[in-house]
Amino acid sequence: MINEDKLDYGTYEATLERSRKLEIDLRKNPGKYKVLTGDRPTGRLHVGHLFGSVLNRVRLHKLGVPTFIVIADYQVLTDRETFDKIAENVKGLTVDYLAAGIDLANGKTFIFPHSHVPELNQLLVPFLTLVTNAELDRNPTVKEEIIASGQKRINAGMYTYPVHQAADILFCKGTVVPVGKDQLPHLELTRTIARRFNDRFAGNKPVFPEPQPLLSESPVILGLDGSQKMSKSRNNAIMLGADEDETAQLIKKAKTDSDRNITYDPKNRPEVSNLLLLISLTTGKKPEEIAEEIKDGGSGLLKKVLTESINEYLRPLRIRRKEIEGDMDYIREVLSSGVSAAREEAVKTLQEVREAMNMNL
Ligand code: TRP
Repeated sequence: MINEDKLDYGTYEATLERSRKLEIDLRKNPGKYKVLTGDRPTGRLHVGHLFGSVLNRVRLHKLGVPTFIVIADYQVLTDRETFDKIAENVKGLTVDYLAAGIDLANGKTFIFPHSHVPELNQLLVPFLTLVTNAELDRNPTVKEEIIASGQKRINAGMYTYPVHQAADILFCKGTVVPVGKDQLPHLELTRTIARRFNDRFAGNKPVFPEPQPLLSESPVILGLDGSQKMSKSRNNAIMLGADEDETAQLIKKAKTDSDRNITYDPKNRPEVSNLLLLISLTTGKKPEEIAEEIKDGGSGLLKKVLTESINEYLRPLRIRRKEIEGDMDYIREVLSSGVSAAREEAVKTLQEVREAMNMNL
């Protein structure tokens, strides 16, 4: 019997507090941890990804923490009709990671698509037996995604992808998962699966660690419509690969409000505050300070300042991106060595899992 009581999301503040402590220890003992993180290959990266997660990953692997970046290509099938661009997007995403500063030279950082790691996927089967339908049904992020995708008939992959995500994290015994707030329910489920697996199958020899979330200190970046998180599918994103004119055009269309005097007030003025936040992230100045400088310059000046600061900030990244994009053989090599490294880990873990479940012959 599964004891459902333990699936507890806890408060955001408590999670943040734990995450801060973890951050301190990571700096002291980077070798003690293993980072697992990832994205769906639904298109290229945007500014929300960059500040929400990618820069955090860059920082972590530069501390010397071994890092696996999973490209969750199967997950795309849960909420999209089309699949013709998946491989292209996997490669494109890899280009974006490398351009943003993910550096594979230390031999401890790997990028791989999970569809190429059979032993990882096989973990899904036992994991599915460790959660209840009711638990899957309550996942707030999945609920939101169902609404956002407009699906009328929901496929079972949609309900179960958080369990698959647990396999993404646990196949290599990942211990630290840098995530945004929306991924916390998935991580809680992963922790629950690890615990239940150990309790049910592993007796006094636990197989899985309970991975911890590492929250990015940068708040959720909203899209240019100011009402929901930045996302390509919601058509409100500044893409890393957009050129400077496209970026200017997009920002011109960003939603603001009718108050000419610019102030930083995320609660009452989410649209304007989000634009100020983006300027802050790309200049290092405080949002309040920027608002004070713009004052009654209105949304026209606000947008002008944002366009300049974003384009300037992204310029070197965009140049690197173009260079790397020209060398697809290199990208294929990066992915193929990522797959080999991931498989090596997954084979070992699956072996232990089978042993724990009394399935080794
Ligand atoms: N669900 C994540 C997203 O939509 C992507 C993802 C898949 C992931 N597997 C993961 C994130 C494992 C962290 C760890 O962004």
